[in-house]
Amino acid sequence: MNLSELESLTTRAVADLSAAATPADLEALRIRYLGRNGAVNDATAALKAAPPAEKPFWGKAVNAFKSRTEKALADRRAALASAAEAASDDFDPTLPGAWISPGTLHPVTQLIDRTTAIFRRMGFTVADGPDIETEHYNFDALNTPADHVSRDTQDTFYLPAARLLRTQTSAVQARYMEANPPPVRIVCPGRCYRRDTTDATHSANFHQIEGLYVDRAVSLANLKSDIDHFARELMGPGVKSRFRPHFFPFTEPSVEVDFSCHMCGGKGCRVCKHSGWIEIMGAGMVDPNVFLAAGYDPDAVTGYAFGMGIERLAMLLFGIDDIRRLYENVVPYLSQF
Ligand code: PHE
Repeated sequence: MNLSELESLTTRAVADLSAAATPADLEALRIRYLGRNGAVNDATAALKAAPPAEKPFWGKAVNAFKSRTEKALADRRAALASAAEAASDDFDPTLPGAWISPGTLHPVTQLIDRTTAIFRRMGFTVADGPDIETEHYNFDALNTPADHVSRDTQDTFYLPAARLLRTQTSAVQARYMEANPPPVRIVCPGRCYRRDTTDATHSANFHQIEGLYVDRAVSLANLKSDIDHFARELMGPGVKSRFRPHFFPFTEPSVEVDFSCHMCGGKGCRVCKHSGWIEIMGAGMVDPNVFLAAGYDPDAVTGYAFGMGIERLAMLLFGIDDIRRLYENVVPYLSQF
Protein backbone atom coordinates (compact mmCIF):
# COMPACT_ATOMS: atom_id res chain seq x y z
CA MET A 1 0.00 0.00 0.00
CA ASN A 2 1.33 3.43 -0.86
CA LEU A 3 0.15 6.81 0.46
CA SER A 4 -2.17 7.60 -2.40
CA GLU A 5 -3.78 4.14 -2.09
CA LEU A 6 -4.41 4.92 1.58
CA GLU A 7 -6.03 8.23 0.61
CA SER A 8 -8.37 6.60 -1.86
CA LEU A 9 -9.13 3.86 0.69
CA THR A 10 -10.14 6.62 3.14
CA THR A 11 -12.42 8.26 0.57
CA ARG A 12 -14.03 4.93 -0.31
CA ALA A 13 -14.55 3.97 3.35
CA VAL A 14 -16.27 7.29 4.13
CA ALA A 15 -18.50 6.92 1.05
CA ASP A 16 -19.43 3.31 1.89
CA LEU A 17 -20.21 4.07 5.54
CA SER A 18 -22.31 7.12 4.67
CA ALA A 19 -24.38 5.05 2.24
CA ALA A 20 -25.05 2.06 4.54
CA ALA A 21 -28.75 1.23 4.25
CA THR A 22 -29.28 -0.69 7.49
CA PRO A 23 -27.59 -1.02 10.88
CA ALA A 24 -26.42 -4.54 9.81
CA ASP A 25 -24.80 -3.17 6.63
CA LEU A 26 -23.15 -0.46 8.73
CA GLU A 27 -21.76 -3.04 11.17
CA ALA A 28 -20.33 -5.14 8.31
CA LEU A 29 -18.61 -2.02 6.91
CA ARG A 30 -17.28 -1.12 10.35
CA ILE A 31 -15.70 -4.57 10.59
CA ARG A 32 -14.31 -4.30 7.07
CA TYR A 33 -12.65 -0.91 7.61
CA LEU A 34 -12.11 -0.52 11.34
CA GLY A 35 -12.26 -4.10 12.72
CA ARG A 36 -9.36 -6.01 14.21
CA ASN A 37 -8.50 -7.57 10.83
CA GLY A 38 -9.86 -4.68 8.78
CA ALA A 39 -8.29 -2.13 6.46
CA VAL A 40 -7.10 -0.11 9.42
CA ASN A 41 -4.68 -2.93 10.20
CA ASP A 42 -3.18 -2.84 6.71
CA ALA A 43 -2.70 0.90 7.09
CA THR A 44 -1.04 0.51 10.49
CA ALA A 45 1.23 -2.22 9.10
CA ALA A 46 2.22 0.05 6.20
CA LEU A 47 3.01 2.81 8.72
CA LYS A 48 5.29 0.47 10.66
CA ALA A 49 7.06 -0.69 7.49
CA ALA A 50 7.61 2.79 6.10
CA PRO A 51 11.16 4.20 5.84
CA PRO A 52 11.87 6.66 8.71
CA ALA A 53 11.78 9.68 6.41
CA GLU A 54 8.21 8.85 5.29
CA LYS A 55 6.87 7.98 8.76
CA PRO A 56 5.44 11.44 9.58
CA PHE A 57 3.42 11.39 6.33
CA TRP A 58 2.19 7.85 6.99
CA GLY A 59 1.32 8.76 10.59
CA LYS A 60 -0.83 11.68 9.46
CA ALA A 61 -2.52 9.64 6.74
CA VAL A 62 -3.36 6.75 9.09
CA ASN A 63 -4.80 9.18 11.69
CA ALA A 64 -6.87 10.84 8.98
CA PHE A 65 -8.17 7.43 7.90
CA LYS A 66 -9.17 6.55 11.45
CA SER A 67 -10.78 9.85 12.37
CA ARG A 68 -12.68 10.29 9.08
CA THR A 69 -14.04 6.72 9.02
CA GLU A 70 -15.01 6.86 12.71
CA LYS A 71 -16.86 10.12 12.16
CA ALA A 72 -18.63 8.72 9.09
CA LEU A 73 -19.58 5.65 11.11
CA ALA A 74 -20.97 7.69 14.03
CA ASP A 75 -22.92 10.05 11.72
CA ARG A 76 -24.48 7.21 9.81
CA ARG A 77 -25.35 5.33 12.98
CA ALA A 78 -27.16 8.41 14.35
CA ALA A 79 -29.00 8.97 11.08
CA LEU A 80 -30.18 5.35 10.91
CA ALA A 81 -31.30 5.49 14.56
CA SER A 82 -33.41 8.62 14.09
CA ALA A 83 -34.95 7.21 10.91
CA ALA A 84 -35.90 4.09 12.85
CA GLU A 85 -37.42 6.20 15.61
CA ALA A 86 -39.48 8.23 13.14
CA ALA A 87 -40.68 5.04 11.49
CA SER A 88 -41.72 3.58 14.82
CA ASP A 89 -44.36 6.29 15.54
CA ASP A 90 -45.58 6.20 12.02
CA PHE A 91 -49.26 6.99 11.34
CA ASP A 92 -51.42 3.94 11.97
CA PRO A 93 -54.48 4.14 9.72
CA THR A 94 -56.19 1.34 11.63
CA LEU A 95 -56.43 3.36 14.88
CA PRO A 96 -59.79 5.09 15.46
CA GLY A 97 -59.53 8.88 14.90
CA ALA A 98 -60.19 11.56 17.50
CA TRP A 99 -63.96 12.35 17.58
CA ILE A 100 -64.79 15.88 16.51
CA SER A 101 -68.44 16.76 17.00
CA PRO A 102 -69.85 18.33 13.83
CA GLY A 103 -72.12 20.68 15.82
CA THR A 104 -75.83 21.36 15.25
CA LEU A 105 -77.95 24.45 14.76
CA HIS A 106 -79.87 25.63 17.80
CA PRO A 107 -83.58 24.68 17.59
CA VAL A 108 -84.52 28.39 17.50
CA THR A 109 -82.15 28.97 14.58
CA GLN A 110 -83.55 25.90 12.82
CA LEU A 111 -87.11 27.21 13.14
CA ILE A 112 -86.12 30.69 11.94
CA ASP A 113 -84.47 29.06 8.92
CA ARG A 114 -87.44 26.80 8.21
CA THR A 115 -90.11 29.46 8.55
CA THR A 116 -88.23 32.05 6.51
CA ALA A 117 -87.53 29.42 3.83
CA ILE A 118 -91.27 28.66 3.54
CA PHE A 119 -92.18 32.33 3.22
CA ARG A 120 -89.35 33.00 0.78
CA ARG A 121 -90.86 30.39 -1.51
CA MET A 122 -94.12 32.35 -1.27
CA GLY A 123 -92.38 35.52 -2.47
CA PHE A 124 -91.51 37.15 0.87
CA THR A 125 -88.14 38.73 1.56
CA VAL A 126 -86.46 39.02 4.97
CA ALA A 127 -86.28 42.40 6.74
CA ASP A 128 -84.99 43.31 10.15
CA GLY A 129 -84.88 46.13 12.65
CA PRO A 130 -83.10 47.05 15.88
CA ASP A 131 -83.64 45.33 19.23
CA ILE A 132 -83.47 48.74 20.92
CA GLU A 133 -86.55 50.45 19.52
CA THR A 134 -88.31 53.73 20.04
CA GLU A 135 -91.73 53.98 21.64
CA HIS A 136 -92.78 55.38 18.31
CA TYR A 137 -92.12 52.26 16.22
CA ASN A 138 -92.97 49.74 18.91
CA PHE A 139 -96.28 51.37 19.94
CA ASP A 140 -97.33 54.75 18.50
CA ALA A 141 -96.90 53.91 14.82
CA LEU A 142 -98.75 50.66 15.52
CA ASN A 143 -101.91 52.45 16.64
CA THR A 144 -101.37 51.49 20.26
CA PRO A 145 -103.21 53.86 22.62
CA ALA A 146 -101.16 55.64 25.29
CA ASP A 147 -102.92 53.68 28.03
CA HIS A 148 -102.68 50.24 26.40
CA VAL A 149 -101.67 47.49 28.83
CA SER A 150 -98.73 46.37 26.72
CA ARG A 151 -97.04 49.73 27.35
CA ASP A 152 -97.06 49.17 31.08
CA THR A 153 -93.65 49.28 32.75
CA GLN A 154 -94.62 45.91 34.20
CA ASP A 155 -94.51 44.49 30.67
CA THR A 156 -91.91 46.53 28.82
CA PHE A 157 -88.24 47.21 29.46
CA TYR A 158 -87.89 50.97 29.07
CA LEU A 159 -84.61 52.72 28.38
CA PRO A 160 -83.86 56.47 28.62
CA ALA A 161 -84.97 58.89 25.87
CA ALA A 162 -88.23 57.17 24.83
CA ARG A 163 -86.37 54.01 23.92
CA LEU A 164 -87.18 50.45 24.90
CA LEU A 165 -86.32 46.84 24.16
CA ARG A 166 -88.82 45.94 21.48
CA THR A 167 -91.68 43.84 22.76
CA GLN A 168 -92.70 42.57 19.32
CA THR A 169 -91.26 42.27 15.83
CA SER A 170 -94.31 44.29 14.69
CA ALA A 171 -92.04 47.32 15.17
CA VAL A 172 -90.27 46.27 11.97
CA GLN A 173 -93.57 46.63 10.04
CA ALA A 174 -93.76 50.31 10.89
CA ARG A 175 -90.11 50.95 10.05
CA TYR A 176 -90.23 49.03 6.81
CA MET A 177 -93.38 50.70 5.46
CA GLU A 178 -92.05 54.14 6.35
CA ALA A 179 -88.90 53.43 4.30
CA ASN A 180 -90.40 51.46 1.39
CA PRO A 181 -93.41 52.16 -0.84
CA PRO A 182 -96.01 49.40 -1.39
CA PRO A 183 -96.24 46.60 -2.40
CA VAL A 184 -94.59 44.96 0.60
CA ARG A 185 -94.09 41.28 1.29
CA ILE A 186 -91.69 40.74 4.18
CA VAL A 187 -90.97 38.43 7.10
CA CYS A 188 -88.91 39.69 10.04
CA PRO A 189 -87.46 37.19 12.49
CA GLY A 190 -85.83 38.58 15.61
CA ARG A 191 -85.46 38.87 19.35
CA CYS A 192 -88.16 40.41 21.55
CA TYR A 193 -88.13 41.36 25.22
CA ARG A 194 -90.86 41.44 27.83
CA ARG A 195 -90.82 41.70 31.58
CA ASP A 196 -92.15 38.20 31.98
CA THR A 197 -91.20 36.05 34.92
CA THR A 198 -89.44 33.02 33.55
CA ASP A 199 -91.36 29.76 33.75
CA ALA A 200 -91.90 26.70 31.57
CA THR A 201 -93.57 28.73 28.81
CA HIS A 202 -92.29 32.30 29.33
CA SER A 203 -88.95 33.98 28.93
CA ALA A 204 -88.02 37.65 29.18
CA ASN A 205 -86.11 37.29 25.94
CA PHE A 206 -87.64 35.28 23.12
CA HIS A 207 -87.98 35.33 19.35
CA GLN A 208 -90.80 36.15 16.99
CA ILE A 209 -91.25 36.12 13.27
CA GLU A 210 -93.43 38.82 11.80
CA GLY A 211 -95.09 38.77 8.40
CA LEU A 212 -96.48 41.69 6.42
CA TYR A 213 -98.11 41.67 3.02
CA VAL A 214 -99.43 44.94 1.59
CA ASP A 215 -100.77 45.48 -1.92
CA ARG A 216 -103.80 46.85 -3.74
CA ALA A 217 -106.30 44.17 -2.77
CA VAL A 218 -104.98 41.89 -0.04
CA SER A 219 -107.83 40.22 1.81
CA LEU A 220 -108.49 38.11 4.88
CA ALA A 221 -108.94 35.20 2.44
CA ASN A 222 -105.32 35.68 1.30
CA LEU A 223 -104.23 35.58 4.93
CA LYS A 224 -106.20 32.39 5.51
CA SER A 225 -104.87 30.57 2.45
CA ASP A 226 -101.27 31.71 2.99
CA ILE A 227 -101.38 30.65 6.65
CA ASP A 228 -102.94 27.31 5.68
CA HIS A 229 -100.12 26.76 3.22
CA PHE A 230 -97.56 27.68 5.88
CA ALA A 231 -99.19 25.29 8.38
CA ARG A 232 -98.92 22.38 5.95
CA GLU A 233 -95.36 23.21 4.95
CA LEU A 234 -94.16 23.54 8.54
CA MET A 235 -96.17 20.95 10.46
CA GLY A 236 -97.20 18.39 7.85
CA PRO A 237 -99.64 17.82 4.99
CA GLY A 238 -102.78 17.20 7.08
CA VAL A 239 -102.48 20.31 9.28
CA LYS A 240 -105.21 22.98 8.98
CA SER A 241 -105.58 26.45 10.48
CA ARG A 242 -108.55 28.16 12.09
CA PHE A 243 -109.15 31.80 13.00
CA ARG A 244 -110.62 32.99 16.28
CA PRO A 245 -111.66 36.64 16.70
CA HIS A 246 -109.22 38.63 18.82
CA PHE A 247 -107.95 42.17 19.30
CA PHE A 248 -104.64 43.81 18.41
CA PRO A 249 -104.29 47.61 18.18
CA PHE A 250 -102.58 47.39 14.78
CA THR A 251 -104.94 45.04 12.96
CA GLU A 252 -108.68 45.17 12.23
CA PRO A 253 -110.15 42.65 12.16
CA SER A 254 -107.71 40.72 14.35
CA VAL A 255 -107.54 36.98 14.83
CA GLU A 256 -105.71 34.38 16.80
CA VAL A 257 -104.65 31.48 14.61
CA ASP A 258 -104.71 27.86 15.76
CA PHE A 259 -103.20 24.93 13.87
CA SER A 260 -104.83 21.52 14.09
CA CYS A 261 -102.66 19.34 16.31
CA HIS A 262 -99.84 17.77 14.29
CA MET A 263 -99.43 15.02 16.89
CA CYS A 264 -102.96 13.57 17.04
CA GLY A 265 -104.38 14.98 13.82
CA GLY A 266 -107.02 16.92 15.78
CA LYS A 267 -108.42 14.02 17.83
CA GLY A 268 -107.04 15.38 21.11
CA CYS A 269 -103.84 14.47 22.95
CA ARG A 270 -101.45 15.70 25.61
CA VAL A 271 -99.69 18.15 23.24
CA CYS A 272 -102.93 19.99 22.28
CA LYS A 273 -104.34 19.62 25.79
CA HIS A 274 -107.09 17.42 24.34
CA SER A 275 -108.60 20.24 22.29
CA GLY A 276 -107.26 19.15 18.89
CA TRP A 277 -105.95 22.71 18.27
CA ILE A 278 -102.79 24.59 19.12
CA GLU A 279 -102.55 28.38 19.32
CA ILE A 280 -99.77 29.51 16.98
CA MET A 281 -99.95 33.21 16.11
CA GLY A 282 -101.67 36.56 16.16
CA ALA A 283 -102.74 38.07 12.85
CA GLY A 284 -105.16 40.40 11.12
CA MET A 285 -105.73 43.02 8.47
CA VAL A 286 -103.45 46.03 8.86
CA ASP A 287 -105.34 48.87 10.59
CA PRO A 288 -105.74 52.00 8.41
CA ASN A 289 -104.11 54.06 11.19
CA VAL A 290 -100.94 51.99 10.82
CA PHE A 291 -100.89 52.82 7.10
CA LEU A 292 -101.39 56.51 7.86
CA ALA A 293 -98.54 56.53 10.39
CA ALA A 294 -96.27 54.95 7.78
CA GLY A 295 -97.30 57.41 5.07
CA TYR A 296 -99.37 54.92 3.04
CA ASP A 297 -102.80 55.78 1.63
CA PRO A 298 -105.31 53.47 3.41
CA ASP A 299 -107.72 53.92 0.50
CA ALA A 300 -105.14 52.64 -1.98
CA VAL A 301 -103.78 49.56 -0.22
CA THR A 302 -104.78 46.80 2.14
CA GLY A 303 -102.61 44.25 3.89
CA TYR A 304 -102.34 41.48 6.35
CA ALA A 305 -99.85 40.98 9.18
CA PHE A 306 -99.06 38.14 11.50
CA GLY A 307 -96.61 37.41 14.29
CA MET A 308 -95.65 34.21 16.05
CA GLY A 309 -93.26 32.97 18.69
CA ILE A 310 -90.32 30.93 17.42
CA GLU A 311 -89.63 29.14 20.70
CA ARG A 312 -93.19 27.92 20.76
CA LEU A 313 -92.84 26.43 17.27
CA ALA A 314 -89.55 24.77 18.24
CA MET A 315 -91.11 23.32 21.40
CA LEU A 316 -94.09 21.94 19.50
CA LEU A 317 -92.07 20.43 16.68
CA PHE A 318 -89.33 18.94 18.83
CA GLY A 319 -91.47 18.01 21.82
CA ILE A 320 -89.57 20.30 24.22
CA ASP A 321 -91.67 20.78 27.35
CA ASP A 322 -89.87 23.69 29.01
CA ILE A 323 -88.73 26.88 27.25
CA ARG A 324 -85.79 27.17 29.65
CA ARG A 325 -84.19 24.11 28.02
CA LEU A 326 -83.63 26.30 24.95
CA TYR A 327 -81.49 28.78 26.87
CA GLU A 328 -79.49 26.60 29.23
CA ASN A 329 -76.96 25.73 26.53
CA VAL A 330 -76.65 22.11 27.53
CA VAL A 331 -75.05 21.00 24.29
CA PRO A 332 -75.79 17.25 24.60
CA TYR A 333 -79.48 18.15 25.08
CA LEU A 334 -79.68 20.71 22.28
CA SER A 335 -77.66 18.68 19.80
CA GLN A 336 -80.28 15.92 19.66
CA PHE A 337 -82.65 18.15 17.63
N1 PHE B 1 -97.33 41.50 17.71
C1 PHE B 1 -98.34 40.56 18.13
C2 PHE B 1 -97.86 39.89 19.43
O1 PHE B 1 -96.73 40.03 19.78
C3 PHE B 1 -98.62 39.52 17.10
C4 PHE B 1 -99.24 40.08 15.87
C5 PHE B 1 -98.45 40.47 14.81
C6 PHE B 1 -100.63 40.23 15.77
C7 PHE B 1 -99.03 41.00 13.66
C8 PHE B 1 -101.20 40.76 14.63
C9 PHE B 1 -100.41 41.12 13.59
O2 PHE B 1 -98.63 39.23 20.09
